[in-house]
Amino acid sequence: MDKLVIEGGIRLKGEVTVSGSKNAVLPILAATLLTDEPCIINGVPNLRDVNTMIKILRSLGKNAELDKGTVTVTPGKHTNFVADYKLVSTMRASFCVLGPLLGKLKKAKVSLPGGCIIGIRPVDLHLKGIKALGAELSIESGYVIAKAAQLKGSHMYLGGVYGSSVLATANVMMAATFAKGKTIIESAACEPEVADLAEFLIKMGAKIKGFGTPIIEVEGVRYLRGAIHTIIPDRIEAGTLMSASLITRGDILIKNVFYQHLGAVIDKLQEAGANITKTDSCLHVRPRRQLRPINVTTLPYPGFPTDMQAQIMSLMAVTAGISVITEKIYPDRFMHVAELNRMGAHIQREGPHAIVEGVKCLSGAPVMASDLRASASLVLAGLVAKGKTSVSRIYHLERGYENLEEKLQRLGARIWKEKE
Ligand code: EPU
Repeated sequence: MDKLVIEGGIRLKGEVTVSGSKNAVLPILAATLLTDEPCIINGVPNLRDVNTMIKILRSLGKNAELDKGTVTVTPGKHTNFVADYKLVSTMRASFCVLGPLLGKLKKAKVSLPGGCIIGIRPVDLHLKGIKALGAELSIESGYVIAKAAQLKGSHMYLGGVYGSSVLATANVMMAATFAKGKTIIESAACEPEVADLAEFLIKMGAKIKGFGTPIIEVEGVRYLRGAIHTIIPDRIEAGTLMSASLITRGDILIKNVFYQHLGAVIDKLQEAGANITKTDSCLHVRPRRQLRPINVTTLPYPGFPTDMQAQIMSLMAVTAGISVITEKIYPDRFMHVAELNRMGAHIQREGPHAIVEGVKCLSGAPVMASDLRASASLVLAGLVAKGKTSVSRIYHLERGYENLEEKLQRLGARIWKEKE
C-alpha cells in the first residue's frame, strides 16, 4: 500500500487544471445501460471509482473502456441484470444501476451497498421512488430485486430527513425515462451532477424538465439512443485546490472551473479573506489579508457542500479565532477531526458541530485517511504543517482525485508517494 509524504511550508504558486467530476460521471456511466447504442463520454477522470463503475458495466454485459479521458460504452454479447455484492459494496454509487436496469430490462437485482465510514447511508429514498413508479420490490439475501413489466409515471416526494438525495434522484430519474406517462419528483436534488445527468439523458432522447430545481418532470419515452457527452468539471476538486492556495498563503490560477457551481464555497472563502477573481472558466485564488474564522453549515446544493467540509476545517484549523462547522448531511462525517488534532489542531466535536480554535501552526505527523474528503483535508494540513506528514491509506484519495499529488507538485509542493 502507498502513503503520501508531504513536507509542509511551501506557498503554492502556478496554474492547475481541474479534472472531470467524479460524482457526475458515475451516474452518467450507469445511464449508458438505458441504450443498446454506443455512448462516448469525454472528460472522464482516471479514478478508482470510475474504474469500478466500468467493471460493473462490464459485469452487466457492456463493453466499456477508459482511454485518455474518454469512456466508450458499446453493447456486449450478453446482458445481465444482477449487480454483484463484491462490486457494489466497494462503491455506493454503483447502486444507481438499479434505475437504468429496471427501466431497460424490466428487472434488476442489485446488491444493497451497506454503510460506510461517513455514516449509515440508507437507500430508502431510492426504493421509495422506484416503488412509486410501480415496481415490485423485495429484499433477498442482501439484494434488492425489482420487477415491473411496465413502469408507470407518478408524482412523488423524494425528500428525506437530511433533505434531498443526489443518487436517489438520479436513480429515479433514469428509471422514469422509460415509465409510461409523466413522473414528477418533488424535493429532487438540485446538484449540478444531477443536472449533468439530465443533460446526458436528454441527448439520449429523454424528455426531462426542471432539472437543477427541486421539481423534476420526466415524460416517459419508448426508446433511448446512444449519445456523446462531456462531463462537467469537478467542483469539489476545484474547492479543494482553492483551499490549498489559501492554506499555504499561495497564489493559484485554477482552470476548467464552472464557478457558478461553487457559489457557496466562493462566498465562504471570501468571507474568510480570500481574494478570488473569476475569468471565463478560471478562478484566481490568493489570500487578501490575514484569514478570519468563519462559521460554515453544510447543506444540499446550492448550500455549502458536505464534500468540502473536511477541507474547510483544515483551513480553519490554522486560522486564528474560533470557527464553528456544522454538518447537516452526514452528522457523523468527522473522522478527520482526531487526525487533524494529532497534527496539533484544536478541534472539538459537539454532536453535528466541530468547534475549531485556530492554531498558529500544525506539526507534521503520521496520519491515516479514513475516507475520500478526510484524506484531502489531511493533505491540505500536511501542506502547511511544520515538518513531515505521512498520510496512509491513500487509496481513499485515489477514489476521487485524479493525479492530485502531481498537480500539487507542479504548484511547488513537496509531496511524493512512498511504499508503507
Ligand atoms: N439518505 C437517506 N436515504 C436515502 C439516500 C440518502 O436518508 O435513500 C440520506 C443520506 O444518508 C445523507 C443524505 O440523505 O444523510 C444525503 O445523501 P445523498 O443520497 O444525497 O448522498 P449520495 O447521493 O449517496 C452523493 C455523493 C456524495 C455526496 C452526497 C451529498 C456521489 C457518487 N456521491 O452521495 O459524495 O457527499 O451526494 O452531496 O454522487 C464524495 O464524493 O466524497 C461523496 C461522499
